[in-house]
Amino acid sequence: MEGAEPMSDSIESRLKEDRKFEPSAEFKKAALVSSPEAYEALYKRSLDEPEAFWKEETKDLAWRTPWKKFHEWELPHAKFFVGATLNVSESCLDRHLTTNARTTAALIFEGEPGDTRTLTYFELHREVVRLTAALADLGVKAGDRVAIYMGMVPEAAIAMLACARIGATHSVIFGGFSSDALRDRINDCQAKVLLTQDGAWRRGNVVPLKKMADVALEGTPTIEKVVVLKRIGRESAPCEMKEGRDVWYEDLLGRTPSAESLALAKKPPAFDAEHPLFILYTSGSTGKPKGVLHTSAGYLAGAHVTTRYVFDLRDGDLYWCTADVGWVTGHSYIVYGPLSNGATCLMYEGAPNFPDPGRFWQIIERHGVTVLYTAPTAIRAFIRWGDDWPAKSDLSSLRLLGSVGEPINPEAWTWYHKVIGKGRCPIVDTWWQTETGSIMLTTLPGACHSKPGSTGLPLFGVDIAVVKDDGAECKANEGGKLVIRKPWPSMTRTLWGDDERFKQAYWSQMPGVYFTGDGARRDEDGYFWVVGRIDDVLNVAGHRIGTAEIESALVSHPAVAEAAAVGKPDELKGQALVVFVTLKGGQEPTKELKAKLTEHVDKEIGKFARPESIRFTDALPKTRSGKIMRRLLKEIASGATETKGDTSTLEDLSVLAKLRADEE
Ligand code: PRX
Repeated sequence: MEGAEPMSDSIESRLKEDRKFEPSAEFKKAALVSSPEAYEALYKRSLDEPEAFWKEETKDLAWRTPWKKFHEWELPHAKFFVGATLNVSESCLDRHLTTNARTTAALIFEGEPGDTRTLTYFELHREVVRLTAALADLGVKAGDRVAIYMGMVPEAAIAMLACARIGATHSVIFGGFSSDALRDRINDCQAKVLLTQDGAWRRGNVVPLKKMADVALEGTPTIEKVVVLKRIGRESAPCEMKEGRDVWYEDLLGRTPSAESLALAKKPPAFDAEHPLFILYTSGSTGKPKGVLHTSAGYLAGAHVTTRYVFDLRDGDLYWCTADVGWVTGHSYIVYGPLSNGATCLMYEGAPNFPDPGRFWQIIERHGVTVLYTAPTAIRAFIRWGDDWPAKSDLSSLRLLGSVGEPINPEAWTWYHKVIGKGRCPIVDTWWQTETGSIMLTTLPGACHSKPGSTGLPLFGVDIAVVKDDGAECKANEGGKLVIRKPWPSMTRTLWGDDERFKQAYWSQMPGVYFTGDGARRDEDGYFWVVGRIDDVLNVAGHRIGTAEIESALVSHPAVAEAAAVGKPDELKGQALVVFVTLKGGQEPTKELKAKLTEHVDKEIGKFARPESIRFTDALPKTRSGKIMRRLLKEIASGATETKGDTSTLEDLSVLAKLRADEE
């Protein structure tokens, strides 16, 4: 490990020839952890004395009952903070009402049309209490599931916190999902109530969320009530309200709550540390999405501690995470992590290029954002839109930059560092997953140098390694599978309703070890370099998409016999989706059919999962046992003119030549 050497403070000297970036002396001076030795000591303590470490680091979380035992583990079931009780909403809100945070902003919202709204901790608490009482009056109880299909509006966070307050398990479904995808997720978790909105602003247009929800609601027998926020206004986003089922959010809050519900909302019950907090659906290697379940105390502890250390939270910070609340980054780093720390969080509703590609930079200047956490795919789009846009805004308030969701290519890293951070701001490249709940790998910004393209070092309590198939650790710079060798507090506890799949998907590749699905290497300094997924999951513009989900969407179309989805490298999106389709007898491979299949994917999953290209073929390359040889399809999709690997198991060699010849 480096860093103890004397430093001059010029940008050039900090970004050394060998591509290591040292934080400035000024940054280090104020940092929570300011040397590699301090990081190592904390990391070591988190592994050697986990009880003491977590006790110290979570002491401010408003526990109602302390834990009796730190940890219990019986593969694949983990418990953390055993015997403790707390209310997660109380840990995020009420505990700030007796400190200076009471009157500081918790959320600063900017809508796409330009409207803004600030909620102090006092106001956010009041809103959450009101909604909690209202939901309780609708019959929501601890243990019930509540679906949230909303855009990026404060009420999405309010809804999550109100569920947590009651002890109801929320499942946020990203607003980009189609009606069919929403229906399936609601049915899988058997949600009782749905919260949605008339519409969401996106690039000047209205995404008609309620209308889309109405289609889903035709097939969701468990939903009893639908609460609809009026974000757009009745005229431009007309909504049909079903008598007895649907209620406007504002009307619901206008009702006088029952004394019982109000009492519960004001002084919420404490729940067991392992009480389910939320279910978040994500893609895996089968057509059925996985309902990743997170519980209360362990999840909150992970989100809380990582937010504080990774973003090096300081008084006066305005922190902006650009992720959507519909994904795990929005859960952990817009809602639970920042609020449990009393931080001030910016929330922006719309597109980064509306009304022009300077929108993000104008937001930073307008509000004085100090910490920006975004995704490589966005950074690559900004590069494409040109340096003139950020140059128009004053970005001097920024002190720290973050990246998440996919590997950041060194070019994008360097641009982010120079053009946005003006060479002053450290970059934290954070590796984690929906299943891990919180950040697992990064470089603490004031402690360790970063290397463009590397996700850095393990965080607290994370015993992570790159291993070969037999479980033996790889040598420095040798590629292998990224695994986590010990349970950690914020890990998913199971897949909703499918314990067996949980065990199989994560804990069975190498017994007793969690397999991430990613390939990686670890360099001679111990820094991790994550290459990307090595399972059947793609990462398209930071969205996790299972190839099997796309395939099962396509084969559900009456014209399709068989489909194979693969990724190809894409400059902007990281990976682009290419599908190979064979048609049923009598079907013509026309342009019109391609358009219909695209529409079909929109309907089954959502527009964000649209294939970039659909290629019709008479046959797919298969092994003699009938398995599709995806490796070959990947090569063809990427435009390779020759096949690199072994084709000896291929049943019919002429299929390959034909596929190449058919290339678009
Ligand atoms: O492949 C890794 C990639 O995103 C996957 C997790 O996706 P998801 O559960 O949707 O969560 C995304 C936000 C945490 C990982 O298995 N990934 C995430 N962050 C990085 C990354 N790959 C490389 N570098 C990262 N910083």
